Amino acid sequence: MTTPTPLIAGNWKMNGTGPALSEARAIAAGAPTAGVRVALCPAATLVERMATALAGAPVEIGGQDCHSQASGAFTGDVSAEMLREAGATLVILGHSERRAGHGETDEQVAAKVEAALQAGLEPIICVGETRAEREAGRALAVVTDQVRASLPGSLTGKAFTVAYEPVWAIGTGLTPSLDDITEVHQAIRATLVEMFGPAGAAPAILYGGSVKPNNAAEILALPEVGGALVGGASLKASEFLAIVAGTPGV
Ligand code: PGA
Repeated sequence: MTTPTPLIAGNWKMNGTGPALSEARAIAAGAPTAGVRVALCPAATLVERMATALAGAPVEIGGQDCHSQASGAFTGDVSAEMLREAGATLVILGHSERRAGHGETDEQVAAKVEAALQAGLEPIICVGETRAEREAGRALAVVTDQVRASLPGSLTGKAFTVAYEPVWAIGTGLTPSLDDITEVHQAIRATLVEMFGPAGAAPAILYGGSVKPNNAAEILALPEVGGALVGGASLKASEFLAIVAGTPGV
């Protein structure tokens, strides 16, 4: 099984209007053309403009969420097909800010993954424990349960990525120890192999949560880490490109 190309994905969250496209252009101008996949996931309102502005550049565009249905009476929601039409090829699903802030369950995340696959989007499926769960010694159980319940069997043979994002590390400046990241990534890999057989060795497993230029290289150097999902530091081209440059082999 060949090692997947590392993916460094920027999650802009609810940040950025038109002027922020200048940062996206700067990221595109500095993104390597080989050895790493670089992606930006802006707010839905920017997906089409960013896809147009970055056409031909080595940067993939993703959404941050999608509905599980293809269309219908779902005020305020965006379907996977709408994101695809706007120029996205990826979509983040099950981010803890959706799970906690919008009450999304593993079952709903799995349904969204199905919708993303139907529309031809590659899902980045997020999992991660809370601080209380880690302190109770339940991090591995929580994360592997999320993987089992959030990833539908239809992912077999499809391109997808899992992002391990401890809830307590997101936006806090805190990160787990390198040993803790390795331990959780190994547990996720074992779960993927249990679920998908040998194909479970293929998907990249990203780390996310306070990835910054000063810690990216050591995290990305871990053999189990196949890239990063970056929030705050992806809003500034200089910081995001410094993280990208920390990818082994780049
Ligand atoms: P952060 O966010 O890098 O700002 O901690 C990561 C994420 O939520 O994906």
